[in-house]
Amino acid sequence: MRKPIVAGNWKMNGSRSLVKEFSTLMDGVDSAAVEVIICPPACYLGDFAGADFALGGQTVSELDNGAHTGDISAQMLIELGCNYVIVGHSERRDDHGESSELVAAKALKAISSGLTPIICIGESLQTREAGKLESFLAAQLDALTTLMTAEQLSKAVIAYEPIWAIGTGVTATPEQAQEVHAFIRGHLASFSEDLASGMQILYGGSVKASNAKELFAQPDIDGGLIGGASLKVEEFRQVCQAAG
Ligand code: G3H
Repeated sequence: MRKPIVAGNWKMNGSRSLVKEFSTLMDGVDSAAVEVIICPPACYLGDFAGADFALGGQTVSELDNGAHTGDISAQMLIELGCNYVIVGHSERRDDHGESSELVAAKALKAISSGLTPIICIGESLQTREAGKLESFLAAQLDALTTLMTAEQLSKAVIAYEPIWAIGTGVTATPEQAQEVHAFIRGHLASFSEDLASGMQILYGGSVKASNAKELFAQPDIDGGLIGGASLKVEEFRQVCQAAG
């Protein structure tokens, strides 16, 4: 059985006072039924010490340490209490030119260090409208399977985030999302059946309390990666409850 995950990606948002508001997040959330993760900006990770939910970084270096100004290593994230790290978010692919090969290297570094990477993939509207959705996603996945064994990749989580649905208020319909999740699982199955059946595949893109339940009810959707709605504790709690 795949345990649902709800991860909140604060992106470059939040404050110390918002961290305090999240001390009540798990009230009424069944942590046995859903894995809840908050991924704040790295500077706030230490402020979450003692939290009763999991923590994640928003990116990680593919390197161990050294002269790489502004980067953060897997060991540093672990020291700050992280069990997870987001890699390959489309905003990092766009803002920082992260290629699929670099994303795979970051994911492997996370795995070999003991972190679970939440690896983001997803297409632009232009790619979808050009009929290239499946080949685009297959190439993003193939970069992972080229670098990693099925056993290594089984320690990751995949997040499908159509770029056109991120922060736009436009959500993929549950049917649209399910169709793509089934494609992703099927593509992974061509690499390893066991990997595919065990992989937790999250949906991200304008998920909120009002649409979470229907999305999470789809057979191949194992929870969500939540942006805007993870910045309001009550709203995010409801999203977590919808998965559990
Ligand atoms: O990482 C989260 C996603 O980019 C979704 O963001 O929920 O604000 O659309 P959103």
